[in-house]
Amino acid sequence: MTNDRILLKKGAESELYLINWHGANAISKVRIAKAYRNSSIDIPLRKRRTIHEANILSQVKFFGINTPFIYFLDIKNFEIIMEYIEGKTVKDFFSSDLCINLGEIVGTLHCNNIIHGDITTSNFIISSNVVIFAIDFGLSFFSERYEDKAADIRLFKEI
Ligand SMILES: Nc1ncnc2c1ncn2[C@@H]1O[C@H](COP(=O)(O)OP(=O)(O)OP(=O)(O)O)[C@@H](O)[C@H]1O
Ligand SMILES: [Mg+2]
Repeated sequence: MTNDRILLKKGAESELYLINWHGANAISKVRIAKAYRNSSIDIPLRKRRTIHEANILSQVKFFGINTPFIYFLDIKNFEIIMEYIEGKTVKDFFSSDLCINLGEIVGTLHCNNIIHGDITTSNFIISSNVVIFAIDFGLSFFSERYEDKAADIRLFKEI
């Protein structure tokens, strides 16, 4: 891990730090231990989600989805170091027009049988040059089922 790091966000399951990675701004996402989970479950779960998230963030690029580039994966520390996307989340910059773009992104994921698992306005970043990036694929999974795709969209409708 890098020494100089600035805590940006404490998410539900991770801490997000702004770090310097070989001269560039980067994000370190570290999955934190949950006291309510036995460590025999907690450790493999955090490992699995860390690897899975890094994999999916890279894979969906093949379908034209913008995601942060993965720079480094430190499994022992449950840490992903990735490109820092400068911008605002859709939560802070919401407009109904944006929903069309979000719909296209989610549609592309679903056509490729990827269920995001947490489609919320905090999980899309609009970069300073107005490109939408999808993030937070820790809960994503593969499924062809319409029910899973519908449940994915339903969360967005609810929030
Ligand atoms: N690559 C990135 N570049 C810039 N900001 C980021 C990046 N990744 C995450 N963030 C910021 O950190 C926040 C939390 O990240 P993320 O959703 O990946 O973590 P989380 O632990 O799942 O959080 P939550 O439970 O709030 O969804 C995002 O909403 C966004 O504001
Ligand atoms: Mg999130």
